[in-house]
Amino acid sequence: MADSAGNLAIEASGVVKSFGTVQALRGVDLAIRAGALAALLGPNGAGKTTLVRILATLLRPDAGTVRVLGRDVATRPYAVRSVIGLTGQYAGLDEALRGRDNLILIGRLAGLGRREARRRATGLAERFGLAAAAGRPVRTYSGGMRRRLDLAASLMNRPALLILDEPTAGLDPGSRAELWSALRELRDAGTTMLLTTQYLEEADRFADAVHVLDHGLVIATGTAAELKARTGAQVVDVLLAGRDAAAARASLAARLAPGDVRVDEASRRLVIVARDGLGTLLTVARVLQQDGIAVADVSLRQPSLDEAFLALTAGPER
Ligand SMILES: Nc1ncnc2c1ncn2[C@@H]1O[C@H](COP(=O)(O)OP(=O)(O)O)[C@@H](O)[C@H]1O
Ligand SMILES: [Mg+2]
Repeated sequence: MADSAGNLAIEASGVVKSFGTVQALRGVDLAIRAGALAALLGPNGAGKTTLVRILATLLRPDAGTVRVLGRDVATRPYAVRSVIGLTGQYAGLDEALRGRDNLILIGRLAGLGRREARRRATGLAERFGLAAAAGRPVRTYSGGMRRRLDLAASLMNRPALLILDEPTAGLDPGSRAELWSALRELRDAGTTMLLTTQYLEEADRFADAVHVLDHGLVIATGTAAELKARTGAQVVDVLLAGRDAAAARASLAARLAPGDVRVDEASRRLVIVARDGLGTLLTVARVLQQDGIAVADVSLRQPSLDEAFLALTAGPER
């Protein structure tokens, strides 16, 4: 399914979804190129899971259109389901069943013959390092093993598009790295992937494209580097000479927008994200000097992706 012609695996336009009075999605537009590994990045409550569930036909939008691999989710949900895999919730896993039997069951539900289901289950268990554990019930699995089994389960129908909802949330660094290497292999084999994450550095390192979702809207799209540049923000870093970070914060908060200053008491550092980096640096230096707060170091730098993301998502509602 890798596609150099620029075909789209996902085309969403004007997607709206409310739960009672909560507007989870407020008109989402999203285009994901076939063959891409795309990240949907957003804080808690941004609407990521709601969007993913709509793409996977588990939820109907109130308005808007969604096409997945050319199939309309509203009119052809079964055609969509047959070409996608969804992971991240282990919804389909049965704790009492052995790992391999879970895979076989899911394959059978997807319409595979018994022999083919068994063949794929064995192959996928091996591929994700579960060959030895495949004969054990899932309730004996570690978090990392469950995640890999869940991923294997979502691949039983050989999906052209794999959708992953926070696949690495809560994993230790070793399991996270393993999962990512499995995802990269899949991408190299031509599977299109959309994954949601709150880990910015992860999106930075692995995704071809990042779509930032905030308050139910896609507010920015681009590579991680483009997003950092787009905010136009710079960061003033202050290392205090003394211990009183709270006093420094109070004196700056009176002169800058209050949300702009972050304090790390332990390391005696102040981090100020600002559009006018140099002007802010000068203001900070002057205010601290006037208030008699000693400074060990002041510097101006480009934001990390985390800081860019904060700048992008820090809307007036917060
Ligand atoms: N079934 C539901 N009923 C009521 N509110 C919901 C439901 N699902 C999600 N929401 C609300 O919709 C918003 C978006 O949620 P969600 O899509 O889960 O965000 P995310 O996955 O980015 O954390 C949140 O305010 C959440 O509380
Ligand atoms: Mg979610």
